[in-house]
Parts: sequence; C-alpha cells; structure tokens
Amino acid sequence: EGNKLWGGRFTGATDPVMEAFNASISYDKRMWKADIEGSQAYIQAIAKVNIVTAEERDSILKGLEQIKGEWASGSFDLKPGDEDIHTANERRLKELIGSAAGKLHTGRSRNDQVATDMRLWLGDALLTLRGHLVSLLKVICQRAETEEEVLMPGYTHLQRAQPIRWSHWLLSYGWMLQRDIQRLDQLRQRVMVLPLGSGALAGNPFGVDRKFLQEELGMQGLSKNSLDAVSDRDFVAEFLFWASLLSIHLSRWAEDLILYCTKEFNFVALSDAYSTGSSLMPQKKNADSLELIRGKAGRVYGNCCGFMMSLKGIPSTYNKDLQEDKEAMFDTYDTLSGVLQVATGVLSTLKIHPKEMEGALSADMLATDLAYYLVRKGVPFRDAHCVAGECVALAEKKGCSLSDLTVQDMKSVNQLFGEDIGSVWNYSNSVDQYSAVGGTGLSSVRQQFTEMKEWLSRD
Ligand code: ARG
Repeated sequence: EGNKLWGGRFTGATDPVMEAFNASISYDKRMWKADIEGSQAYIQAIAKVNIVTAEERDSILKGLEQIKGEWASGSFDLKPGDEDIHTANERRLKELIGSAAGKLHTGRSRNDQVATDMRLWLGDALLTLRGHLVSLLKVICQRAETEEEVLMPGYTHLQRAQPIRWSHWLLSYGWMLQRDIQRLDQLRQRVMVLPLGSGALAGNPFGVDRKFLQEELGMQGLSKNSLDAVSDRDFVAEFLFWASLLSIHLSRWAEDLILYCTKEFNFVALSDAYSTGSSLMPQKKNADSLELIRGKAGRVYGNCCGFMMSLKGIPSTYNKDLQEDKEAMFDTYDTLSGVLQVATGVLSTLKIHPKEMEGALSADMLATDLAYYLVRKGVPFRDAHCVAGECVALAEKKGCSLSDLTVQDMKSVNQLFGEDIGSVWNYSNSVDQYSAVGGTGLSSVRQQFTEMKEWLSRD
C-alpha cells in the first residue's frame, strides 16, 4: 500500500475490484495540466507562509515542470496504484525530487484540489466551445446576408403557414445561439471561482494567501465557504444544462434541415462531405451528420439528468459520489465539440435551391393577406378572417387556387373586394409587409444581421 496517499491507518489491502471501481485516473488524467498548475500556485502560496523553504519550493516547482513536460510529450508512465491524477502527479514528484515532495500537500486536500482542477479545466474548455459557437454564428450571419432575397414557405405545426425569408429562418437559430453564447459567458464567471485553500472541508490552517492563488490561476473570484467549496458542483450541473439547451437548439435546427433536404421538400442539398450512402440502395444520400447532431442531444441530456441524480441526496461537503461529475463533463464537452464543428461544416457547404423554395409557395399561404386586405378597408379582423376563410372554401369547391378566384367570385363572398385584389397575390410584397422589428420583411431581416454582425465584431 506504499503508493497510497492515505495508507497510514490501513493494515489490509484494497480488494482489486474495489481498486478499479474507485479509480478515476483513466478519465481524470485529462486534467493533468490544471492539476500541475494548481500545485505550482499552491507551493508558492505555502512558501510565502514559510511552510516550505525557498529551496524546497524551487525543487518542487522544477519537478512539477518536468512532470508537465512528460504529460505534454506523452511520456508520463502511469503505475498501478495511481488512483487519480492527483495521486499520479504526487507519486511522480516524489520519484523525481524525493521526500520534499511530501510537503506540497500541506493544508490541501484532494477535495479542494479536484474542485480546482475541474474548474480550471472547464474554464478553458468553455473558451474552446465558445470559439466553435462563434464560428457557426458567423456562417449563419454571412449566409443570411448573401441569401437575403430567397423566400420559402414558413410552417407552424409543420403545416404550410405564411411565406418567409430563408434568411429569417437562418437567423432564428442565430439568435438562439447568441443566447447560448451569452449564457456561456455568465456560466463561465461562476466556473472561474477558486476553491483552493478550503482543505478537506474546514479551510486552510496556515493562512495561505488565497487572493494570491486566485491571481496565479487566473480565476475571477474566491469561494466564500469551505464546506460549500468542496461540495459545490453547481458549475458542472449548470454546464450540463447549458449544453442540453444548446443541444436542443441544434437538434431542432438539424431536424428542419433533414426535412428540407428530402426529395419531397428539396429546399437544400447537403454536401457530400457531410452525407453518407447506403450499403444496399445505390441512390441514397443520407443526412447522417444532421441525424447525429439530433441524436447526440439525447446523450447530452442523459449526462445532465444522470449527474443531477447523483447530486441529489448527497450529504454536506465532499462525498465520493462527486467523482461521477467527470465523465459527464468530459463526454458532454467532447460531444458538443464534435456537434458544433460538424454543424458549421454542414451549414457552410450546404447548397440551397431558391427556385424550389419559392416554387413551394402557394396562394393559400396568402389567405391571411386576403384578410389584411379587408382589414385595410376597415373590416374588423375577426370578420375579415371569416371572409377569407369563405374564399378558401370557395376555391376548394371550384377546385382552383385561391389566387385564381375571379373578382366576381370574391365579390360574391364580400362586396369590399375590388380590382386591386391582384396586388395581394405577390409573395415578395407579402413578406415585406412584416417590417416591424423582428419580422421577416427585408428591412427587418437586414436589421437583424446588421445587429448580429455588430455584436460579433464587438466580441
Ligand atoms: N478522484 C477524486 C474525485 O474525482 C478526487 C477527490 C478524492 N477525495 C477524497 N476525499 N477521496 O472526486
């Protein structure tokens, strides 16, 4: 039991199955850099309060730097008994510099150490995800601008509703992603709070300068209560929920595009780079990229729900249940990193079929406009809605399109219809009447991408 950080009070050996069950090294080794940097800051802090000499400090710093190099070059050798990343790094430090290594952990616990490592790791990971999100948002913005003219059917209940701009559809997801970026920034502030100096649960007895630790580690604040600090995994739960909400957005986006690239819709064509074929049916081109984006959402929610179940009912401070935080966090990060990069690739290589999109518009989608025509002549909207509905019924009865009803036909439904009704049957005019802020009219859509571009450039 010589390798164990906690062997002193034990006489019996750990059961081998328990040993494997307890170990987290296979996945927490990803935090090697955060773990070493946390130790480098901590050794300086305890040197400042004379727990170690300047020589001991420098020897430990040098040893840690060498371990960092070993991890970076892939030459760090894991040994049996390396229970977790903290144990492995300390074991290696002892091999390199001898018994002085044993002073590093003075006043520290793996409880404040692991919480520190997690926060440092996630703080960096969030910046990477943010970069991927911004790239996707830029593609959305750019397409919305170059394709501002393209019209398509808009749907509610997946039923044909009103004509809209394709760029308006694009931007609708843009605003969701912008909120995801804003949420990420807020969440990151809460991640960047330093628990180091909380010990196992009671605090630090050597008066370490926690403000110094905060600054050394580039954190934005200090935890205020040591019991809370070692127990708090709100930041992981919040990350997992944030990831779930982002996954919802991307899953719905993917679902729209999966429909739009079917032959039945044929609004868009997915690039070969993001499609796959069938081993049986030679004609097939499947939207696997989008289906996986949709499918992976389930995995992310699973991580979120699963970890929240683990948190529920844990007594105060650190309990080993908390070790379950890591795989949920890492897997969610890896999943999102793939999802976001593939989504950006899909959207930047997607071909749109403007003719098919506009060809899919039909006059019945202007029935609301027919009602608005009467509204503009003073008819209350409720009555106008009813009259327009009667026109739809009449067209159905005659087996013609709404726009093919003659003025006479329409006058038979309501006297207020006149020769100027022809102007209603124009999709561009229809779309452009929605010029109030947030609408699908050209002026409003331009305002949207201008505002979003400005927001991105201020970023
Ligand atoms: N591997 C552990 C974890 O991930 C580190 C903390 C262990 N602390 C303890 N008191 N056993 O949570």
